[in-house]
This record gives sequence, structure tokens and C-alpha cells, in this order.
Amino acid sequence: MIVAPEEVRRRPVGVFDSGVGGLTVLHELLVRLPHEDYVYLADSARLPYGARRPEELQAFALEVAEELLLRGIKLLVVACNSATAAALPALQERLAQTTLAVEGLGVVQPAAVQAVAATRRGRVGVLGTPATVATGAYAAAIAATDPFVEVVSVACGDLALRIEADTIDTELVAAVRGYCAPLREAGVDTVILGCTHYPLVKPIIQRMLGPDVEIITSGAPLARQVEHVLGTRGLDRRDQDEGAYGFLCTGDPATFERQGTRFLQLPLGPVERVALEPARGERLVGSPA
Ligand code: DGL
Repeated sequence: MIVAPEEVRRRPVGVFDSGVGGLTVLHELLVRLPHEDYVYLADSARLPYGARRPEELQAFALEVAEELLLRGIKLLVVACNSATAAALPALQERLAQTTLAVEGLGVVQPAAVQAVAATRRGRVGVLGTPATVATGAYAAAIAATDPFVEVVSVACGDLALRIEADTIDTELVAAVRGYCAPLREAGVDTVILGCTHYPLVKPIIQRMLGPDVEIITSGAPLARQVEHVLGTRGLDRRDQDEGAYGFLCTGDPATFERQGTRFLQLPLGPVERVALEPARGERLVGSPA
């Protein structure tokens, strides 16, 4: 059995998103793997990622990775669907060049696998940001798991920003109803919430889709994948102490802290502001030992 040196096992898991949405994923990690340390980076100055082009998302993801590598992470979790869909392969390629060959995991594949297992009639719906839906990443991940499963994807415009605004009103309900309509028409029996913000409006979505439709969120299956990767690579912490978690953001730390608690459902503590630098391959290669 492989066991990494103690110094490496004690390193934090890096988690990133464009903002607070990825905290729904961090929540699952904190619950499933409470002994690990985490460093979460929110690129909130450049939110929303869901309206960005794939090339921009790739460039941003590489900058974020560089910052997290400088903080000595042992694994990178992309807790953002838009960034996963557009940038995970590019990110993995660069991470593989680091001294530790740090691995990168995203939210798309674990949710796709769970949805394929859940569907009874082979018809899965995906609700996602325009950026995520445009890449076709969910359709590809589902086809790779079972090509007999049909996928109906709906780009949900500014739904993530509406959720961030924290007003649960009739306008929000009407917007959700509109996004769910094509899925109801298609008769899907399983729906992936393909954006890290959407779990916060799961009750509204479930009401629109009806009780027989199974809703899949990526946090829990991704946390299981993280557990598997850390365990099989001997990278998991062996002590039983409660781990620490900390936050970095590129936007206003006070806003992030205020909005974040609702998403994390745990206290956030101090948030440090960071300025990201354009990614340069040599810094990734020579990441901290
Ligand atoms: N976290 C992003 C995602 O999962 C949604 C928010 C944004 O558009 O930046 O795609």
C-alpha cells in the first residue's frame, strides 16, 4: 500500500469556485472528511464564470491553481461546474507537471455517474450555467458512462446570480419554473443540478419537477471521490484531529464572508484577499516542496 510522507499528507486540499457556490461542495467535504485541512479560493472579482468563454475560464483556472499550489495543496478540487466543464483537462495537464503530480478533480463526472445510476427510464435533465451547457461536458460524461442515456440540458441564464442575491421571491420561483419546463416536457426522471449555487433552491426545483424526479447534486459524490483518491494514493491524514479550513478571495472579503455562511452552513472565520497573477508554467513545475 502506498503511503505518502507525513509532511505531504498534512497538506491542505485546495478547493476553488468563482464565488460562494462551491461552499456547498466544501460543506460535503467538511462533513465527509473532517480530519483534512482545506483552503478555499473564491475568484469572486471575476464572477460570474457562467457567462464566460472557455478560453477565459481556462486562463482563470490556471491562475487559481498556481496560487493554491503556492499554498502547498496536495489535491485540487474544482468546485465550480463552469470551470470544470471548460478547464479541467487543461488544469490536469498543468498539475501533472508539478513536483508532486498533484491531481485535479471536478464536479461534472461524479454527478454524471450518479445520475446514470439513478435514472430508471434513461432520461436525465441537466440545469447549468450557459458556459457549462455550451461545453456539452455533462452530455459527454453521461455518454461515456452509458451511451443509452438521453440528456436534456437547460442553460439557466442568471439563476446563479439571482440565488446569490438571496431573495426568495415570486420572481425567483417564476424563473425556476421556466427553466424546469423543458425538463418536465421531456419527461426526465433524474435531474443534475449542474451549478454549485442551485442546491440552495433545491426545494423550489423539486416542487416544479415533482416528487418522483430524483435530484442529483455534485457535492456528496465528489466528496466520496476525494476520499477515494486520498485513500488510494496514501495522501489522507491519519490523525483524528478536527481539520482546519480557511478562505481566500479575489473580491471583497466582507461580502464573501457575509454571503458564504448561508452556503457553507458553518462559520467562515477570516477571509484573506488575494491578487492572482497570470499563470506561468515554470512556477507550477517548481511548486513548493
Ligand atoms: N459556481 C458556478 C458554477 O457552478 C456558478 C456561478 C458563476 O457563474 O460564477 O458554474
